[in-house]
Amino acid sequence: MAKNSGHWDETKALGLMVQCQRQGGALTSALRALVDTFGYVDDAAIGPLMHTYARSRAEVLGVISYYEDFRTSPHGRHTIRLCQAEACQAVGARTTTAHACKKTGLALGETSNDGQLTLEGVYCLGLCANGPAALIDGKPAAHLDAAAFDARLAEMSE
Ligand code: FES
Repeated sequence: MAKNSGHWDETKALGLMVQCQRQGGALTSALRALVDTFGYVDDAAIGPLMHTYARSRAEVLGVISYYEDFRTSPHGRHTIRLCQAEACQAVGARTTTAHACKKTGLALGETSNDGQLTLEGVYCLGLCANGPAALIDGKPAAHLDAAAFDARLAEMSE
C-alpha cells in the first residue's frame, strides 16, 4: 500500500519525536513514526532528532540511510519497486526496467512531478522463480515483462 505522503507539519513532527523519546523509544522508533505519519523524514527533522536523542548529525543521517524505509523525500501515491537482482536479470529484469523508465520518464529512485508514481530498484523479493519480479504498492508482481508493466500502470491510472 502506498505510504501517506502528506505535507510536513513541524509541530506535529516535534510532538511525535518527544512522544517516542518519552516512551523510551529509540531513534528508529521516532523515524518510523515520522515515516508512518508523513511518508518521509524531512530535513527539518534532523536538528530536533539530534537534540532529542543526543546524536550527531552523522549518526542520525547514518541511521536514516541504513534503513531502506526511512526515506528523506515524499513518495508518490503509487510505488513500483522493480527487482534488479541476478535471478530476475537472467529472465529480463533489465529490459523491463529500461521499458519502465522510458514509459514513465523516471529513473529508478525518482518520483513523478505530479506525485503519482515512484519508481525504485530493489534487490530480491524472494520471488526469484517468477521473475522479473516487482512490488507494486506493496503487492508482489511476477513475470513483469514490458506488456505486464504497461497493464499494471494502466490499472493505476484508473
Ligand atoms: S532475484 Fe528478483 S526476486 Fe529474487
